[in-house]
Amino acid sequence: MRMRKKKWTAPYLETREDVMVFHPEEYKGKWRDVVKGNLLHVEIGSGKGDYWLGMSKLYPEEAWVGVEKVVDVAGIAVRKSEGQVSENMKFVNQDAEDLALWFAPKEIDVIHLNFSDPWPKKRNAKRRLTHAGFLARYEEVLSDDGKIIMKTDNSGLFEYSLVSFAQYGFILDEVSVDFRRVEHPEDVITEYERNFMDKGQPIYRAIWKKGGKVCSKE
Ligand SMILES: C[S@@+](CC[C@H](N)C(=O)[O-])C[C@H]1O[C@@H](n2cnc3c(N)ncnc32)[C@H](O)[C@@H]1O
Repeated sequence: MRMRKKKWTAPYLETREDVMVFHPEEYKGKWRDVVKGNLLHVEIGSGKGDYWLGMSKLYPEEAWVGVEKVVDVAGIAVRKSEGQVSENMKFVNQDAEDLALWFAPKEIDVIHLNFSDPWPKKRNAKRRLTHAGFLARYEEVLSDDGKIIMKTDNSGLFEYSLVSFAQYGFILDEVSVDFRRVEHPEDVITEYERNFMDKGQPIYRAIWKKGGKVCSKE
């Protein structure tokens, strides 16, 4: 997501102690103390925050942590939450490559990947949020009955991800190649998703569970 530099975002985020977590590593194993809810959801790559904000309102009894690495995008997401922050929402403006430093083993119940950057060039494959390197982190921090939910418009990334998860040992639990063919009021539409839906493009979605025994990647 390329945007013109915004000078206000970094200082603004500093003022939002009500929702920002500036040192996520301090809460490793203790997230339930800082964000209230019976299930811990983490959205990686929250963008401008519609999903994070909308789902935290739709499921107020569950805990929602948004993670977005780009400060200017995070600023927009967090600004949207002004006046509607509840105790079940937190936001992290950092790179999710450090996920396993922030969360203890098995601490997260659900990881959401919404319209992740596809990084189509092979030399950038490690940056894909469904690359084996990221799956290893997810496998560590997900609870035993935890799951990963992915939505994308990108058929190439979707195909890659199906293979990547399978090779890693995750179990495919649900798959749709046209998720919005029917109404899904239980699932908030993201900014990117709205854009693709308006263009009539199908939305791909899959859910994976942890396997009984997940293979390590060589
Ligand atoms: C294509 S946008 C989609 C935004 C939003 N999820 C949506 O569906 O509208 C992907 C977002 O993921 C963020 N992102 C990509 N890799 C990330 C990482 N390793 N950690 C945190 N955020 C990441 C990008 O900065 C970008 O804002």
